[in-house]
Amino acid sequence: MGHLKATIVQPFFLDLAESFRAVSFLAGASALAAGASVAAGLDSRAYRLNWPSGTTVFELDQPKVLEFKVRVLAEHAAEPAAHRVDVAADLRGDWSVPLRAKGFDSEKPTAWSVEGILPYLTGDAQDTLFTRITELSAPGSRLAIGALGSCLDQDRLAALEETYPGLTLSGDVNFSALTYDDTQKTKPADWLAEHGWAVDPVRTNPELQASYGRTPSEVDLQVDQIMHSEYITATR
Ligand SMILES: C[S@@+](CC[C@H](N)C(=O)[O-])C[C@H]1O[C@@H](n2cnc3c(N)ncnc32)[C@H](O)[C@@H]1O
Repeated sequence: MGHLKATIVQPFFLDLAESFRAVSFLAGASALAAGASVAAGLDSRAYRLNWPSGTTVFELDQPKVLEFKVRVLAEHAAEPAAHRVDVAADLRGDWSVPLRAKGFDSEKPTAWSVEGILPYLTGDAQDTLFTRITELSAPGSRLAIGALGSCLDQDRLAALEETYPGLTLSGDVNFSALTYDDTQKTKPADWLAEHGWAVDPVRTNPELQASYGRTPSEVDLQVDQIMHSEYITATR
């Protein structure tokens, strides 16, 4: 999955990373006690963002991914911008157990980030993930989701890479072979609205860029027709 992330990163996610200020939406509420990044991967916002003083940021992922990130960032003398806590967990199991064991308090509001994981989950696993997050979310909690479609048109992707030299969307990886059919899944925004979350209007990557005063490039518009991005923010 690290490979996928690395090869898919330009230019589509560049704008995402800079303009989907998920965590500024999340951390904007100074009453928040914690940030929790589910499938944190190599995301470095625990190090880069201006977190409210006293915030703990829990990062959940597979142990080797977390170990790698911490080691590399330490080699570059990077310092977390919040009290950062690793939670090595398999998201297919009950990750609330190791999360609580590391000090997570579900009585206090949390800022959740769920980005880059949903296509890799079955419909049932996705529902379970949101159920667990909801159970752990005190009133005032916030949730930001970055999602992509699952069954991508590989021929169209390949054609786009031909048209735009330097654009590498999936390398040698067949993304759709790693993901589950999203037509079989409940739309995240619908699920959340049905389970007590106030959900903001869902935006695509180009819509998100436009909302930040950017003009999406032609390639971003075309990529999004294949990727079917969805950026969702919700409050409980
Ligand atoms: C595409 S990355 C997303 C990383 C980050 N959220 C971002 O958007 O940059 C997906 C992450 O999900 C993690 N992941 C996938 N399946 C997992 C599982 N069953 N348990 C824990 N982590 C998992 C991978 O290790 C990987 O770091």
